[in-house]
Amino acid sequence: IPHELWFEELTPGYPVIKVSNRHAKATIALLGATLIEYTPTGSQPVIFTSSEAVFQEGKAIRGGIPVCWPWFGPHPTDSSKPNHGFARDRFWELKSTTKHEDYTEVTLEFDTRQVANELWPQHTTAEITFKIGQALDVQLTSCNRSDSSITIGGALHTYFDIAHISDVSVIGLDGVTFADKVTNKHGSQSGALTFTQETDLVFEKTMATTTIEDRGNSRQIHVAKNGSRSTVVWNPWIEKSAGMGDLGNEDYLGFVCVETANAFDDVYTLEPGAIHTLGTTITVNTSLS
Ligand code: BG6
Repeated sequence: IPHELWFEELTPGYPVIKVSNRHAKATIALLGATLIEYTPTGSQPVIFTSSEAVFQEGKAIRGGIPVCWPWFGPHPTDSSKPNHGFARDRFWELKSTTKHEDYTEVTLEFDTRQVANELWPQHTTAEITFKIGQALDVQLTSCNRSDSSITIGGALHTYFDIAHISDVSVIGLDGVTFADKVTNKHGSQSGALTFTQETDLVFEKTMATTTIEDRGNSRQIHVAKNGSRSTVVWNPWIEKSAGMGDLGNEDYLGFVCVETANAFDDVYTLEPGAIHTLGTTITVNTSLS
């Protein structure tokens, strides 16, 4: 059984870890610990990465699973700080790789001592473990290594590759309340979520598994999660896409973000020495017809 793991440079100075085992293929960039490819054997790609993505330090990858950390969205009190935290466009350190019978495991670490003190004064680390097999499991563990308490939010901002946005529903959020970042209103989801316009919804107080019905690919993608009490669903639609230099004009038709997050008042307070794990397990079922 071929089971391989190797390094490549996607562009000079931009290393990625490639994994290929009997169940799947994957690619993980050391920049941002961003997984940019996961394709189960015999299936379509599950993760979308923009053809216009820029691979360069200081720039978050448009696509994949950007790791928003240690906060989600704009910084709660200081708008001069980067959107979605500072870990998604900096290099992480590879800690270990392990070949298991049924999956390959890759762990990377980020240490806040590499960022300026004004950005994050309290020593904190994030460790992320990818298990690549029949399912894709991602676990992000934050650890407060300082001597005072800290507040942690964040997201696994997954871009899912779909056949066509007009032929996609997200189920599992029926009855859940949301903050709509497009209209600045609150609402409650009724039934399945479908897409006909810019969508930027933060679903609150939900631990539920969501399912993306990707009918054009005759499949369902299940997104289970742990340590997360919000789910963000995002598609930029036409105008917003046009304003994004790293997204092709038609790209919005081919992805939807369903994000495992702690995005509002569900952020975690970590006392000195405490840890918190935010995780997601993604499985694909092709029995949909
Ligand atoms: C989503 C947010 O999670 O990320 C959106 O809810 C935001 O508001 C989107 O536009 C993309 O953010 P960025 O910083 O990667 O362009």
